[in-house]
Amino acid sequence: MQELGGRTAVVTGAASGMGLAFAEAFLREGMQVVAADVEAPALARAEEQLAAVRGPEAVLAIRTDVSDPASVNALRDAALARFGRVNVVCNNAGVGGVRNPIGRLDLSDWQWVLGVNLWGVIHGCEAFVPHLLEHGDGHIVNTASIAGHISLPYMGPYNVSKHGVVTLSETLLHELAHAGSTVGVSVLCPGFVATNLIDADRNRPEHLVRPLDEPEDAGARERERAAGRELLGQKKPPAEVAQLVVDAVKANQFWIFTDDQFAPVVAERHRSIESVTNPPQARTLVDYLLA
Ligand SMILES: NC(=O)c1ccc[n+]([C@@H]2O[C@H](COP(=O)([O-])OP(=O)(O)OC[C@H]3O[C@@H](n4cnc5c(N)ncnc54)[C@H](O)[C@@H]3O)[C@@H](O)[C@H]2O)c1
Repeated sequence: MQELGGRTAVVTGAASGMGLAFAEAFLREGMQVVAADVEAPALARAEEQLAAVRGPEAVLAIRTDVSDPASVNALRDAALARFGRVNVVCNNAGVGGVRNPIGRLDLSDWQWVLGVNLWGVIHGCEAFVPHLLEHGDGHIVNTASIAGHISLPYMGPYNVSKHGVVTLSETLLHELAHAGSTVGVSVLCPGFVATNLIDADRNRPEHLVRPLDEPEDAGARERERAAGRELLGQKKPPAEVAQLVVDAVKANQFWIFTDDQFAPVVAERHRSIESVTNPPQARTLVDYLLA
């Protein structure tokens, strides 16, 4: 899709971080944007910010919970009712989750992270792929992570969700090719980006709230979060990632990596698979954040 102007993009997780940057970048390309997010006040602020880019008629904001298929179908219906056609879909909404070892996670930790990060992308694909296939002029961008290529300790639900998004995207790519479709697919695999992901549990639903930590755990967790917020804030600006996404849609490029910090670790994993040797000891997310 070499020309984006006049076309319509749907972006989930558009009230913050990368999703908001994608929405802005698409508007600057002359697109209409449907901004979807579960956090209503942040979405209202984002809508104002986006309307300032190219006027309110180019923007539609719809509160959406991507973990709920009915909500994602309603998003599609609202987008089609307003703009008639959707061309680019960014299944981007995501949450970080609790850093705990497997065996010390609550099942609600798995359900929340997989519900948003993996089921959210599944819902987005099921809702929009038939429409894109029907008119043939479309592109899907699924946000995975570098955690879709490696397995950092203490991040079980996140790793599982992002590996799932990578294979979902590759499967979709192959199926579209088999169908002879011109619809494109990209999978975005960011390293560290300066967003609000550290505070993702601001949107954790009440029915999936985890049992209270021990008080000393809660204090340690808050200190860790403050340090993480500070470190993540110094990483890649979301606008730079948005430009990579715009370029990838135009070039019909499948893999989108944001930097090469993790390239040696990904290569090491591939070598261990090829040589059927056990994976080497992995560093933790904090080690990489501090690097
Ligand atoms: N920031 C990073 O370093 C990084 C690295 C790799 C991958 N990612 C991925 O990038 C994507 C965007 O996250 P971000 O870093 O911009 O974080 P962010 O917290 O700034 O933005 C995420 C947005 O998703 C929304 N959201 C959360 N749950 C939702 C739900 N159920 N339905 C709809 N919207 C929901 C949030 O309200 C928020 O606006 C996520 O999929 C994340 O896993 C981020």
